[in-house]
This record gives sequence, C-alpha cells and structure tokens, in this order.
Amino acid sequence: MPVLVELRGVSKHYRRADTGETVVAVEDVSLDVHQGEVLGVIGYSGAGKSTLVRLVNALELPSSGSVTVAGQELTALPERDRRQARRKIGMIFQQFNLFRSRTIAGNVAYPLKVAGVPKAERDRRVAELLDFVGLLERAHAYPEQLSGGQKQRVGIARALAASPDLLLADEATSALDPETTSEVLGLLRRVNKELGVTIIVITHEMDAVRQIADRVAVMEQGRVVEVGDVYDVFSTPKTGAAQRFVRTALHDRPSTDTLARLRERHPGRLVTVQITDEAGLQNRIDAVFRSAGVTAELVYGGVGEIRERRIGSLTYELTVGGGAGAGDGAGGGARAGAPDAIDRAVAALRADGVTTDEEAAA
Ligand SMILES: Nc1ncnc2c1ncn2[C@@H]1O[C@H](COP(=O)(O)OP(=O)(O)OP(=O)(O)O)[C@@H](O)[C@H]1O
Ligand SMILES: [Mg+2]
Repeated sequence: MPVLVELRGVSKHYRRADTGETVVAVEDVSLDVHQGEVLGVIGYSGAGKSTLVRLVNALELPSSGSVTVAGQELTALPERDRRQARRKIGMIFQQFNLFRSRTIAGNVAYPLKVAGVPKAERDRRVAELLDFVGLLERAHAYPEQLSGGQKQRVGIARALAASPDLLLADEATSALDPETTSEVLGLLRRVNKELGVTIIVITHEMDAVRQIADRVAVMEQGRVVEVGDVYDVFSTPKTGAAQRFVRTALHDRPSTDTLARLRERHPGRLVTVQITDEAGLQNRIDAVFRSAGVTAELVYGGVGEIRERRIGSLTYELTVGGGAGAGDGAGGGARAGAPDAIDRAVAALRADGVTTDEEAAA
C-alpha cells in the first residue's frame, strides 16, 4: 500500500518555561501511515500522542527528523507552503472547536470561505457534507442546540470541507458516551471507506481502536513501542503497554477481584485459554482435555471479533476424577488429587501453540 505519511526519526523536545527543564514529548519516532488505512495511536496521558498529531500536520516542527505527507516533506517547506499543505489535512478535536456564533452550515462553510471558494459552490458543498453526516435538517441551528455527538458530526463535516487526503482525530470521542462514541466511530469508518480518506485516530481508549482501526501504534514516553495490525496487537501484544491496553478493551478476562471470587467457588485449577481465529481451535482444546482425562468446566470468558476475525478468552476450571471437592482427604480436592494430569493437559495445549495463562487477571 502506498505511504501517505512518513515520519523519520521524529523527536520533539520542549523547554519548560518555568524550570528550563527539557521535556521529551516525542522521541525518535519512525512510522508510516498507509494510504486508505485507519491508524489508531494509543497511549496513556502524556505519552506524546497530541504532539505527534501536531507534528503530522506541521502545526509544530520537530526538534529533529522529517515529516512527509503525500510526497511533500513538510519539514523542509517554507511556512507559506506548509500552510497550503495543511489544507489537505483535516482535524477534529475532543471539544469539537466549533464557532458558537455561527450556524452549523456556517461552521462547515468556514474553511471554504477562507480558501476563497465562491458562495454558490460553497453552499452546494456544505449541503453535501451535512447530508453525508446526517445533519442537513439542522443546517441553520447553532452548535449549542446540538448534542455532543451531533457537534462532532459537524466537526467531521467541517474537517472534510476541503476534501482532505488525511483526517486527524485527537480524542474525538473522549467526551462522548459509549453509544454516541460508536456512532461517531461508525461515521469515521464511512469517511474512510466511502470517501477514501486516510485517518489517524488518537485515543487513550483501546475500545475505540478496536472498533475502527486497521492498524495501531502504541506510544509510551514519546516513543512508538509497538505497531501492527489491530488483530495482531490484540491477540499477541508484545509490550507491557500494549498488554495493559488490550486488557482494558477485551472484557473477557476476569479482573483480579473476579478471579479471587472464582477461586472461592471453584477449587479446581483455573486456566485461561486464548481464543484466536485459528480453525478447529475449540476441538483441539477439547481433545487435549479429554485425552488427559481432565474435566474442563467453563467458568468465565467470551468470544468476540475484531475486523471480522474471532478473538477472545475462555477461563476453565480443570479437575480430575470425581470433580472439584472429591473427598481425598487432602483438603485441596481435585487440585491436590491429580495435578499431573492437569499439568500434562496444560503442557499439551502449550505445545500445540495454544496460549494459556493461569494468572489471568485483567
Ligand atoms: N507546548 C508544550 N510545552 C511543554 N511541554 C509540552 C508541550 N506540549 C506537550 N508537552 C509535554 O509533552 C508530553 C506529551 O504531551 P502530549 O500532549 O503530546 O501527550 P498526550 O499523549 O496527548 O496526552 P493526553 O492523553 O493527556 O492528551 C507531556 O509531558 C507534556 O507535558
Ligand atoms: Mg493529547
């Protein structure tokens, strides 16, 4: 896939006005954003996500490194040309940033007016954009008369006014409730699919990434520590940061509290098995338990999908013989009874490439 945005060795250091200390906001980031994709950028507060976005649209210049968008090295352009290039990059914000004194239509028309588009064409384009985001009937309303989700749809229409190649969304859904978030993410997906706009979605919510992104970059302390297809990062996160994000978004792993409660009720060994979209996986898991003579009772978990591929995790209670609490006098029930068979089953699963986890708390 052709590359639309190319970051090479990009760093951004700030000097704190009060202490004179250097703050490393972005550090040595090299990243390609492909034409037509939705890239999620995730990271905790202060990781450098917003700074990265401001570098991509050249609102700020890096301390070192280069930023190239659509073949133009923004970092090498004079400011006037940079401003021109920026017109082809749309942006939406957490707080929507609409003009309160302008109507919805007026807000969407604004960038076209600035660009000198004649009135008749402007009106036509505004109607088209408002229709696309489903707000044509509200054209003459003012922002304060709209809900948060509607305001963000206006923000999206405005960002699309100049037909950008690239749309940057910085925490665009963070002020919205989950249902409205899904609606707005759905609209962004349409912007991507139907209009072919490449989108970079900055968020600290892995759920948003899961819903919309094709690939995800994980940022930590200014660096991109992991980047890959969303499914791969969700199914096999490599860094600690990615693992923590994945666990917040996949609700199929028991939390520490839940696990403690499960342990009280289920004296057998609790083993969590990761479910991927590999064909026949469930049969293989069942066969391993059966041949080891282990009884597997499903006690927690769930299976969902990301980009139409199956993903999930299932927590089993594994027991042998008479099941949990079989009176063998050892006090530990099945756990003490026949750990060998369970060890063998778990080892067999691992040998078969099935990811298991006994400390499965989220
Ligand atoms: N203009 C600035 N001057 C000084 N330091 C800055 C400036 N902008 C950002 N920083 C610092 O750079 C680091 C990264 O900030 P940034 O806003 O990019 O993080 P973020 O990942 O967007 O965080 P959040 O999730 O809270 O929005 C932070 O330590 C921040 O304090
Ligand atoms: Mg930010």
